[in-house]
Amino acid sequence: MPATSLTLTDSPLTLNWASPYGLQPISPLWLRERTQDPAQLDVLTCQRLFDSHRIDPDLTLTGARSLSETRIEFTFSDGHVEVYDLEALALELEGDGSFPNPIPWDSRIDQSAQRFDWNQMGDNDAFHKALKAYLQRGYIILTGVPTDPERILEVGRHFGYVKETNFGRYFEVYSRPAGNDLAYRSVALGPHTDNPYRSPVPGIQMLHCLVNETTGGLSTLVDSLKVLELLKIEHPQGFELLRTTPVGYRFIDAGTELTARRCMIRTDADGEPVGVHYSPRLDRLPHLSPEDTQLFHLTRQRLGELFADPDFEIRFQLNAGELMFFDNNRVLHGRTAFDTQEGRRHLQGCYLDSDGPRERFATTLINARDQAGERTYTHQTEEYNG
Ligand SMILES: [Fe+2]
Repeated sequence: MPATSLTLTDSPLTLNWASPYGLQPISPLWLRERTQDPAQLDVLTCQRLFDSHRIDPDLTLTGARSLSETRIEFTFSDGHVEVYDLEALALELEGDGSFPNPIPWDSRIDQSAQRFDWNQMGDNDAFHKALKAYLQRGYIILTGVPTDPERILEVGRHFGYVKETNFGRYFEVYSRPAGNDLAYRSVALGPHTDNPYRSPVPGIQMLHCLVNETTGGLSTLVDSLKVLELLKIEHPQGFELLRTTPVGYRFIDAGTELTARRCMIRTDADGEPVGVHYSPRLDRLPHLSPEDTQLFHLTRQRLGELFADPDFEIRFQLNAGELMFFDNNRVLHGRTAFDTQEGRRHLQGCYLDSDGPRERFATTLINARDQAGERTYTHQTEEYNG
């Protein structure tokens, strides 16, 4: 965004932003809080050295002096004087452009573009590309992952932070008739997200195939963002109900009971879909009026039909040495049935917190700037900063 999107007007003296929705005045409070003054903002950590809520609520701009096309010296009514970089302000107003935005997909997705060689993930550029693909499409497949036990934890640590649960740091997925979850049987598993009964819900799931001697047991993935685009058009009232009505989810086994209530459709502050919590084996209809219960049920039914529609699904064999890595709150996973008489099928699964890939992505950008000799600023690392 060019800094010229910021302009000054008089009476009262105001900085204005030419936003996509028209000219918007910028509050002096917003401007004052973004001080870069080393006396008010720690240079090393970029953390403020004062409590911004103490700024005078009646703060005004009392002076503005243009130093160049992109630099203006502002004087505030509290006496503070500072030169501001208009390009930096404009970038923040436009939004954080550092991270790739999600790109919804359906069955026509180029699956080959989502496959990455694990052995290349030590290379900054290759790692950056894999992380970008994940952040955009919500999943990647890693190939060439050695099939020794606990390798999945090494992969998890490379991409982020492993989340331990009552299933352990990782869990084994192979057929065992008395297992405490249907995932441990050989039956088909429809599209779902994992563990909506947990707080927080695991952000990322990894499934690593160690052995697959069966012809069935195909893996399926569906992008909820693409499905929700259609559902919102088809059933706007039902969409709103599923977006705003908490649903109870529960998991019980011999030693554990986990329950949580959350909405089936996840939306951002603008009401736009960002994912789902969807597990038809675990959800319970909320108590609503009979009419709303029926609408909720019909919408849930349509959602289930769309998630199972081949137009939205990719289906593939996950072979030994391949690892699925997906956003558990956006991309639904499932599996077709398999015949245990055909041979062994053994996967290991593991959950990660959702923030790891974004953190790693930002690090690859810093590393790239370092390699290009463009870096001008060094943060301290490995210190807790609150
Ligand atoms: Fe699952």
